Amino acid sequence: MTSAHVAPDAVGAARNWTGMLRRPQGSDALAIRELVAETQVLDLNSAYAYLLLSTDFADTSIVAEDDGDVLGFITGYRPPPRPDVLFVWQVAVAPRAQRGGLAAAMLDALVCRMLSEEGAGPLTVEATVSPGNARSRAFFGAFARRHDVPLTEQPHFTADQLDAEGAHEDEPLLRIGPIDAPR
Ligand SMILES: CC(C)(COP(=O)(O)OP(=O)(O)OC[C@H]1O[C@@H](n2cnc3c(N)ncnc32)[C@H](O)[C@@H]1OP(=O)(O)O)[C@@H](O)C(=O)NCCC(=O)NCCS
Repeated sequence: MTSAHVAPDAVGAARNWTGMLRRPQGSDALAIRELVAETQVLDLNSAYAYLLLSTDFADTSIVAEDDGDVLGFITGYRPPPRPDVLFVWQVAVAPRAQRGGLAAAMLDALVCRMLSEEGAGPLTVEATVSPGNARSRAFFGAFARRHDVPLTEQPHFTADQLDAEGAHEDEPLLRIGPIDAPR
């Protein structure tokens, strides 16, 4: 944790985020991309990629909007070979809203929404996280503890698949679940 995450005008502390959470829509794509750029740690993808996620994958994604501002988002999808999985692709919260429980609230709400769909079975959350990304590991570890389910890790995407020059770390796969009821 670094002190830079709680700005003097932080909006994050002790907020109830529930009323701000919704499915993304096409008009959110550029704001999501700007938020990714603002984090300075996530891979910045094209506006088109965020547009696809915000429309075709809206049922497996979520945004937090406060007074017209996108404060946070999660993009995800169900991998076609593993439809019982929510693969979390990117998670970000605006620096001014960090450490107030927003990312946790978004992931809990997204999982709850998916578990509430008609005919839904147990859901396993997957994400790839590099060994050096302590914040992300803490985030998924806290999620596993909140839902009282195991978190396992296995090799997945390798550094050579991600960058020919070796500038990227391995991205092992975290699997959290199965979760069978909303919390
Ligand atoms: C990681 C990130 C999404 C967390 O968002 P957030 O709204 O501040 O997170 P929350 O307040 O909901 O915290 C949830 C859990 O994440 C972990 N966490 C969040 N920020 C952390 C930090 N700076 N250091 C260590 N752990 C952290 C904690 O385990 C926390 O649970 P706790 O409060 O019970 O200890 C946010 O810091 C961010 O956007 N970072 C840049 C993008 C990024 O790294 N994305 C990958 C994340 S999977």
